[in-house]
Amino acid sequence: MSIVDLAAIPQVALAFINDDHREEARLLNDLAEAVKGHKVGKIPVETVLHRFEALFAHTQEHFGREEEAMRQEGFPPYPVHKGEHDRVIEEMESEETHFRETGDTGRLWSYVSEGVPAWFIGHIQSMDSVTAQFVSMKRGGG
Ligand SMILES: [Fe+2]
Repeated sequence: MSIVDLAAIPQVALAFINDDHREEARLLNDLAEAVKGHKVGKIPVETVLHRFEALFAHTQEHFGREEEAMRQEGFPPYPVHKGEHDRVIEEMESEETHFRETGDTGRLWSYVSEGVPAWFIGHIQSMDSVTAQFVSMKRGGG
């Protein structure tokens, strides 16, 4: 079972963002699968942490690419969108630290199965969608 159905990710007006979202969802699904397996003792904690790191690294790279496009095209609400990215990075980092320190699988499971996917879809439908529309128009179509 996937947490995020790759075929159901809302599409925005820029291909590079859609590609990133697909990869983000794939990494989230991999992490969720590892957490599930870890809960029943089938997957070692190292695998969970490794996949969490992969998701975290990709999230940072992806946010960086969106932010660069916003700066290049002079997107006026840049600080709002950037602020939301910063908040998510901090949250992800603190969830990882918490898991590393406590091994609290229940909390990690609700983060990856509810917190992240709900945020992900909502963020795409709001900030990313508006940003992609603006950047794509500035670039003459997208
Ligand atoms: Fe974004």
